[in-house]
Amino acid sequence: MTEKDFIPLPYSHEHSEGKVTYKSPSNIALVKYWGKKEHQIPANPSISFTLDACATTTTIAYKKLENPTPNFSFDLWFEGKPKETFKPKIEIFFKRIEKYLPFLKEYHFVIETSNSFPHSSGIASSASGMSALALCLMHIEKERMPSMEKDFFTKKASFLARLGSGSACRSIEGDLVQWGHHENTVGSSNLYGIKYPYSVHSVFNNYHDTILLVDKGQKKVSSSVGHDLMHQHPFAKNRFVQAHENLTKLRTVFAQGDLKKFIEIVESEALTLHAMMMTSLPYFVLMKPETLQIINKIWDFRASSGANICFTLDAGANVHVLYPAAEKEEIITFIKNELVVYCENGQYICDRIGFGAKKM
Ligand code: PMV
Repeated sequence: MTEKDFIPLPYSHEHSEGKVTYKSPSNIALVKYWGKKEHQIPANPSISFTLDACATTTTIAYKKLENPTPNFSFDLWFEGKPKETFKPKIEIFFKRIEKYLPFLKEYHFVIETSNSFPHSSGIASSASGMSALALCLMHIEKERMPSMEKDFFTKKASFLARLGSGSACRSIEGDLVQWGHHENTVGSSNLYGIKYPYSVHSVFNNYHDTILLVDKGQKKVSSSVGHDLMHQHPFAKNRFVQAHENLTKLRTVFAQGDLKKFIEIVESEALTLHAMMMTSLPYFVLMKPETLQIINKIWDFRASSGANICFTLDAGANVHVLYPAAEKEEIITFIKNELVVYCENGQYICDRIGFGAKKM
């Protein structure tokens, strides 16, 4: 498929008003997306676990305007209050997707959004937020084009979400989603995320992710600045090759349930992401002392207990602790006894692999 396939033909139906709600989860990348080309095309393919508990719920109430306006017409509410500061981001998103949803200027939208996780938790809400918004807009498009197939609906929702925030395209479905062209993955695309098309061992069912909130502040580097720094980066070329190789390796790892190899790839990806930031110009260290203390504790515990626990990181100091459901008791006890002390105000979120967004 190409971008052109997402430009609709004239709509067959009219809809003057309505309301729709979607709840869409966050996701955590195992092979990281870091570096992009124009139009949110990723510099390398990535794969993520869709999460379950960390989610955004978005409602759009829409009403046809008497006369279409030259500008987008919308109100934005966040957690029950008007939120003017979020509006420019939505405005940019609408501009980017207008070509693919030509009805946008025909309506007034009231967008109400809320997160299941605390706003200032250091957890990025762009993946869950942009995917929820894209799904609500796709619902409106489907009303105007009732013959739309489910597969197209899902692909276009992911395509639109990607234009809001790259990683958001991996939040439409679950439980494992790959985004970005990879020659060894059938159906993979730079334009949208796909459900992982190969066999996945049952050891990954219900995989857990306990998110340790080490630093609940605003992100120190915005993703867009971070992605841009990969353009002049001395190690970028090798990094992109490595991401392709890791995805190829993961195919056997997922099929065989090889947790030792899984851990090696996931931790190496997390540290590589941070290594890229530390070696860009300007350079950044996004880990905190507590992040490193947690990592060392995890390594010690894994060495002494043999537990299949590992960590991954986003572009920040928080630590995602990943482990199989079967080892939950032992690992949760370890987390509570030894890791929670490094969290800001002792806060952490117990999440697990999820199955994608839901219409409410
Ligand atoms: O979707 P963005 O542009 O906010 O980028 C997200 C990048 C990482 O979270 C660091 C990695 C990833 O693949 O999710």
